[in-house]
Amino acid sequence: MSSPRHIAVIMDGNGRWAAAKGLPRIAGHRAGAEALDRAMHLCRDAGVEYLTVYAFSTENWKRSEEEVGGLMRLLSIYISSKRKELKKNGVRFRVIGRRSDLSEKLQREIADLEAFTADGAFTLAVALSYGGRDEIVRAARKALSEGMAPGDLDEAAFAQRLDTAGIPDPDLVIRTSGELRLSNFLLWQAAYAEFFFTGTLWPDFGKDDFEAALAAFAKRDRRMGGRKQ
Ligand code: IPE
Ligand code: IPE
Ligand code: MG
Repeated sequence: MSSPRHIAVIMDGNGRWAAAKGLPRIAGHRAGAEALDRAMHLCRDAGVEYLTVYAFSTENWKRSEEEVGGLMRLLSIYISSKRKELKKNGVRFRVIGRRSDLSEKLQREIADLEAFTADGAFTLAVALSYGGRDEIVRAARKALSEGMAPGDLDEAAFAQRLDTAGIPDPDLVIRTSGELRLSNFLLWQAAYAEFFFTGTLWPDFGKDDFEAALAAFAKRDRRMGGRKQ
C-alpha cells in the first residue's frame, strides 16, 4: 500500500461547525486548531513527512474585522503556546504566503519559531495570507528582479522561487466541509495531486476521516500522464 509523503489540507467548515452549536465563529477556529494538532499526530504516526495546511487565504481578508482579528490573535497564541511541543516532537514549522500582510509582531514570532524548529524531521507548513496566484506572481517577480535570462527560467528554477521551495509537491489534497474546489490553494504544486473530499467539518476531522483518505489514496493509480506498455 503506497502512502503519501506530503498531505495538504484545506481546513474548511469551522464557521459552520460553530453555527451548528450556536457558538461564535471564532470558537470554530479554536476547535479547528485542536483538529490541526490531531491531524499532525495522525500524519506523523502514518509516516507522512510533510503536512501543509490552509489556515488563511489572500481572500479571507474580506471577512469581518472581528473574525480576521480573532484569527490573527489565535495564530499568535498558537505560535507561542506550541513552541516547546513542536520542538520536542521534531516538527519543523514553516509559513507559506504573503507574510508582509501580517503584523510585524506576528512576522517576528513566525520567523523566530521557524528558526527554533529548523532541524525538525517532520514539516508543518502553514499557509497564511496565502493564494496560489499571488505566490506565482511573487515568484515571477523574484525571477525578474534577479535579472534572470528568460531561457534560464524552467519549471525547477520557477519552483525554487515559490514559497514551497524545498518541499516536495503534495501527493494528496484533502478538503473538508463538502466544498469541491481549490479556493486558490497550491495551484502550481497540486498539478498531479490526488484529491479527497469529505463532508466532515474540519473541527470534527479525526482518525476515521484520516484513515478513509489514506485508504482512498492507496487505491488510486497515479499514472502521471504515462502508461505501462
Ligand atoms: C475554514 O473555516 C477556516 C478559514 C477559512 C479561516 P471557515 O471559516 O471557512 O468555515 P465555513 O466555511 O464558514 O464553515
Ligand atoms: C479556503 O476556505 C481557505 C481556508 C480554508 C483557509 P474558504 O472557506 O475561505 O473558501 P471558499 O470561500 O468557500 O471558497
Ligand atoms: Mg469556508
